[in-house]
Parts: sequence; structure tokens; C-alpha cells
Amino acid sequence: MNELDALVESAAQGFAQATTPADLENAKAVYLGKSGRITELMKGLAALPVEEKKTRGAIINQAKQAIEAALNARRQALADAELEAQLKAEALDVSLPGRRLGQGGLHPVSLTLERIEGIFGSMGFDVAQGPEIESDWFNFTALNTPEDHPARSMHDTFYVEGGTQAAPNLLRTHTSPMQIRHAVQHVRRYQALLDAGEPMPEIRVIAPGRTYRVDSDATHSPMFHQCEGLWIGANVSFKDLKVVFTDFCRTFFESDDLVLRFRPSFFPFTEPSAEIDIQFPSGPLAGRWLEVAGSGQVHPNVVRNMGLDPEKYIGFAFGMGPDRLTMLRYGVNDLRLFFDGDVRFLSQFQ
Ligand code: DAH
Repeated sequence: MNELDALVESAAQGFAQATTPADLENAKAVYLGKSGRITELMKGLAALPVEEKKTRGAIINQAKQAIEAALNARRQALADAELEAQLKAEALDVSLPGRRLGQGGLHPVSLTLERIEGIFGSMGFDVAQGPEIESDWFNFTALNTPEDHPARSMHDTFYVEGGTQAAPNLLRTHTSPMQIRHAVQHVRRYQALLDAGEPMPEIRVIAPGRTYRVDSDATHSPMFHQCEGLWIGANVSFKDLKVVFTDFCRTFFESDDLVLRFRPSFFPFTEPSAEIDIQFPSGPLAGRWLEVAGSGQVHPNVVRNMGLDPEKYIGFAFGMGPDRLTMLRYGVNDLRLFFDGDVRFLSQFQ
């Protein structure tokens, strides 16, 4: 092997040993740099006679080209290797099975609320919503329950500072405050008709929502749901309440033979008042009376607080517990299951 072939060979080896681009540049300098081996050989040509210069020059040039080719090949190899390493590090395994979206569903109590809204909607009732932090006025006083009224003690709740109409101070203990809130809005809308002595369109509304009391056991939760109902007009009677509520219960429980009982009771905001019990004709609860709502004819004082003349407007109200309706419909015996958030329980209602 001549001297130049040996040089090309050693350059190729030097390049092969370089494992990084920086190593490779150093190796290149040894052969092709300013004082590299090839450069030195070129400089040596100057001292040779013309003919020799030509032949030797051509041979050195060949060697130079061979070295450059080896350098470029190695550069490419290092670049390829780097790219491959990078791809490996960022590997995306397209054969992994995908993560499926968990399928959610409505809470059983939400299903009940939707059902209630659907049934009352079909009977021409609007749906209203109101604040859960309520003022003393709407929760008690406007509902004919003054400050010293013993009925307040049954509604032990969570109070905060404040306590004016503008500064609500308690977590509402029932949805009944919505009777006043909704009626006042309705009356305001039709004030011109009322002022002219014209008949006002009837108030027909339900108001579902969360309510709060200091209570906790298998059938009571500090947060629970209620759904209020209110129907006020010039000529709405207790008979209408019976028809509407009976219809509702039979539709809700899908049982035309369901029996209802209106049992005399007391609420400050209704007179007369009744508790409503139902009895299933068959099934595990057959024959038992189960309480599902409070109700009654709206008290004249309450009608007055709605901004209406109790001599001209009359109607009924009711308040039921959607949690209890859900328990009865699905045969659940512990209310707390609804609020534990256990997916194994909740997923059974989908
Ligand atoms: N607000 C009552 C309660 O929570 C339930 C109730 C009774 C609502 C009679 C009414 C009603 O609208 O007329 O105990």
C-alpha cells in the first residue's frame, strides 16, 4: 500500500472512531485542516519540477477526494444515528389500545327531577329556580311564619351574618320561598292588567331544587331536594289540587291504581293543609301508606305577600321530596346512598 492509500485508510479509521459530530470535526482537521496532512502534502508540491507536480498533484487530489467522501459518509451516518435515537426516545406505540371515554349518566335524583318537570310541564306548569341562600323574609316571614312562630324550630338550618331581604342569611329549608319569589315576579309582569281590574294569567309553576336542614340519618340528609308547586288563579280549588297531584303520582309511578290520601295537617302558609300519602296496589310496599308531600290552600296572608288580593285570588301549593320519590320508585332504602358518590351504586340507574 502506498503512502497515500495508507493516509486515506487511516483517515477513514479516524472518522469511523468519531462517535459525535464534534469528534468528527476534530478528526477532519487532522487531514483536511489548515495544517492537516493533505494540506501539508499540497504545500510540498511547490518544491517539485513541473511534470512531477502534475502527476503527484493529481494523486494527492484523488486521496483528498477519497478522504472527503469518507468524511461525508461518516457525517451522514452520525446524523442518521442521531435521528434514529431521537425517534426511539419519542416513540409512539400505535399498537397500544386507546383509552376509552368513561360514559357518564344522570344521577337518579336528576332523573326524577326531569320526570317531575316533564309531567308537570305537560299540565301547563312552568319551571322556576331560585337561590339556595335565602333571606329570612322569603323563607319564613312572607310565608306567614313570623319570627316567634314555633314552626320555625322544625326548620333548623345553617345561618350566616346578615338577614335582610337584600342580605340573605340562611340556607333555605324548603323550596316554598319560591312561591313568593315567582308570584311577585309574575304579578309585576301583569301589574298593568291588575291595575285595570282585568284578570291576570294564572300562576302555574313548579320549583325544584336543593334545600338544607340540620338533619342526618338513613332518611334525612343535611342537603336534600324538594319540589314546590303553586297554582294561583281566580277560581282554583282544593279539588284541582287533588286532580293534579293524583294525576302526577299515577303518571310518575306508572300505576293507574295508585291510591292517594289527603290527611289533615298544619303548615303556616296553607289553610286548610294536608299531607299527601300514597298506597301502591302491588309490589313490596303494597298496602302501606307512604307520605310524599305537604300541601294546602294558600293562606290569605301569603297571597297578600305575593302582591295579590286574597279576595280575588286563591289557589293551592304543595311541596314534595324528589329524593323520597326516587327511593320509592327504585326501591332504595338508604337516602345517603344518593350522596355518597359511589359509581357502583349510581351506574345502576343508567
Ligand atoms: N315546605 C314544607 C316543608 O318543607 C312542605 C310544604 C307543605 C310545601 C305544604 C307546600 C305546602 O307548598 O303547601 O315541610
